Amino acid sequence: MKSNPQGTQIKEKDAVMVNYGMNGKVALVTGASGGIGRAAALAFAASEAAVLVCDVNQAGGEETVELIAQMGGKARFQTCDVSNPDQVKAMVAAAVEHFGRLDYAFNNAGINNLGANEYEDEVWARSLSVNLTGVMLCMREESEVMLRQGGGAIVNTSSMNGVTGNGAQPGYVATKHGVIGLTRHGALRWAKEGIRVNAVCPGVIETPMTAPLTANPEMKKVLDSLTPMGRMGKPEEIASAVVWLCSDQASFVTGHAMLIDGGSTAV
Ligand SMILES: NC(=O)c1ccc[n+]([C@@H]2O[C@H](COP(=O)([O-])OP(=O)(O)OC[C@H]3O[C@@H](n4cnc5c(N)ncnc54)[C@H](O)[C@@H]3O)[C@@H](O)[C@H]2O)c1
Repeated sequence: MKSNPQGTQIKEKDAVMVNYGMNGKVALVTGASGGIGRAAALAFAASEAAVLVCDVNQAGGEETVELIAQMGGKARFQTCDVSNPDQVKAMVAAAVEHFGRLDYAFNNAGINNLGANEYEDEVWARSLSVNLTGVMLCMREESEVMLRQGGGAIVNTSSMNGVTGNGAQPGYVATKHGVIGLTRHGALRWAKEGIRVNAVCPGVIETPMTAPLTANPEMKKVLDSLTPMGRMGKPEEIASAVVWLCSDQASFVTGHAMLIDGGSTAV
């Protein structure tokens, strides 16, 4: 454990990260203050990309920046509510202003509304505005820069609930299905312009989003048992796929929705 300038304890990552040779390239990650987004920001940094760390949570975002600095990487925090068109525009402009370009974007910010009734108007509207409109706004602004540059790669975070239902969360399920639709749209729209667009569909992953459930040991056992592999996934297990999808190793992959769920949707 190390301390950041605010004195907050930061757990160092023990994951092995692959270097895809992204030196000189720039990655933008939304929802990067923790969980999957933070793991992806660190994985981009391990590949030597400069990273714009974006989130509504400033303290967490600055911790991510500090973790990247400890790795010897380059990163900067940008506050952004992805449901706000002006803030999304400013976020993409900040990547170009501070790092000179934008090569990779991981549109990952999302909310789960755990325990809330998504049939209530406000909860439904919030789910759509963050999980679906937020991804569209990000793609719209990022693609403009990437088109000017002659290409790029975008990865959106869907969910296994992007391909399956769940009886509790109409908003989450609908928005995550919608993210796959947006991904396929973007892949076709920009296929000839050199922008690849893919999605990751995580299963049940141990992050702050699922922490209210895993805090209860009995519930954690239930969650582990829901996945055929018998355990929840780690954020790093999503991050490694995200960086690979952005890398030149995935140069013919576009419009793909990659399930990373320990076998949950194989049953
Ligand atoms: N954890 C899981 O089991 C799981 C499974 C499938 C999909 N996902 C998806 O993965 C993504 C990341 O989730 P996570 O599990 O890392 O959860 P998390 O809560 O740790 O991360 C989500 C991040 O998004 C940020 N955020 C929320 N609203 C925002 C907004 N309007 N603008 C900008 N940032 C905002 C939060 O501050 C947070 O840092 C989400 O899209 C989520 O739906 C998670």
